Amino acid sequence: MNDSLTRAAFLQKTSLASAALLLSNLELFAAAEEKIIKVAIIGCGSVSNRYIVHLQSSPLVKIVSLCDIKQDRAEAQNKKYNIGASTYNNINALLKGNAFDLMLTLTDMQMHGALNKIALQAGKHVWSEKPLANTYAEGKALVDYAKLKGVRIWGAPAVVTSPQFEFMSKTIQEGKLGKLASAHGQYGHTGPTWSSFFYEPLGGSMPDLGVYNMATLTGLLGPAKSVMAMTSIVNKEREIDEKGIVKVNEEDNAHILLEHDNGVISHIMCGFNYFDPFGHEAKNQTLHSIQIFGDKGNMRLIGYDWEPKSVVLDNSWTEAPQVVQTDDGGYQWQEGATHIAGALSKNIEPRINVLHSLHVLEIIEAARKSSKEGIKVKLVSSFPFPMV
Ligand SMILES: NC(=O)c1ccc[n+]([C@@H]2O[C@H](COP(=O)([O-])OP(=O)(O)OC[C@H]3O[C@@H](n4cnc5c(N)ncnc54)[C@H](O)[C@@H]3O)[C@@H](O)[C@H]2O)c1
Repeated sequence: MNDSLTRAAFLQKTSLASAALLLSNLELFAAAEEKIIKVAIIGCGSVSNRYIVHLQSSPLVKIVSLCDIKQDRAEAQNKKYNIGASTYNNINALLKGNAFDLMLTLTDMQMHGALNKIALQAGKHVWSEKPLANTYAEGKALVDYAKLKGVRIWGAPAVVTSPQFEFMSKTIQEGKLGKLASAHGQYGHTGPTWSSFFYEPLGGSMPDLGVYNMATLTGLLGPAKSVMAMTSIVNKEREIDEKGIVKVNEEDNAHILLEHDNGVISHIMCGFNYFDPFGHEAKNQTLHSIQIFGDKGNMRLIGYDWEPKSVVLDNSWTEAPQVVQTDDGGYQWQEGATHIAGALSKNIEPRINVLHSLHVLEIIEAARKSSKEGIKVKLVSSFPFPMV
């Protein structure tokens, strides 16, 4: 609609004052309309159940399309969540179908880079489940390409948006732990059973699980300069639902050492062989999974960084450790895409930064190289720090 013509025609027929009032109302309405971000989801498997419900809680989001190579999955989700979207069975049909602003890539990990590239080429913004590409070079090319096309790409996880992350970051930045030295993060369960891609080449426990601790520890301590790691395959075979026994080709057990600035060293362990009575959901975990040590204090994050419960702060020689930041402020790990849609809608810069996701991707690749070749691997990537 040509706005100036509409104004001129309208002003001829009404008094200036009432027209101005009505127009400003119309403009407000138009602006509100424009702010709704149209979302297309590609990959309608397990994680889409969490994403769809969260997206539906936002007045700024409309899910207009669902796509899965198994189209019956897209149709089933459309019906289950009463979405009213169009469904497709491949990305080209999706791009030719309903117009949308933001594509959510929720497919097998190995497909993310290629699908994200096609969406960027079509001028769409992208929120990608982790990893956003299979290699650092592929991820960097996507970020550079997005810039060229004037669109944006972001990648999961969204751990940096939790109030517990914010509290821990501020506590460190305010110097309450003194001079930092060491940190540890761990996350594992006994492994997914619903899809085999987790165990296929370029799957593995690092891009699926370790990625959370990598984002948290680099987010709190700063970019890593180098990586040393040992990875292994503990279970050579896995039984996958509706598929049977598959061979495990990517690491299901990993220990990663990160060298940060100022002598700080952190350690992450992740795997698909970790007994945890709370399983994949981990909602009721009351033990800590992240520890940060300085010479004047230490902190433990209770729960997981993607499902945080509270922080235990121990920085007194005389007082007992305090349990703080018990409120999660409604944070949910699956909020990343809703958060990004909100940022696009309001035209604000979100805390989640794609350069941080790229850095984590480089760490994963470097850890594989380090373990394979028995060497320390230097990193080239970085991201704006501190994040909070
Ligand atoms: N399941 C979870 O709880 C969970 C949590 C956090 C993150 N993730 C991440 O989400 C992603 C998906 O995991 P999932 O557990 O939902 O897997 P899933 O196997 O349940 O679902 C993946 C879906 O993608 C579809 N797909 C594959 N290739 C496609 C293509 N080229 N075009 C369209 N559709 C395609 C598959 O048919 C399948 O339905 C992974 O990156 C995983 O690491 C999963």
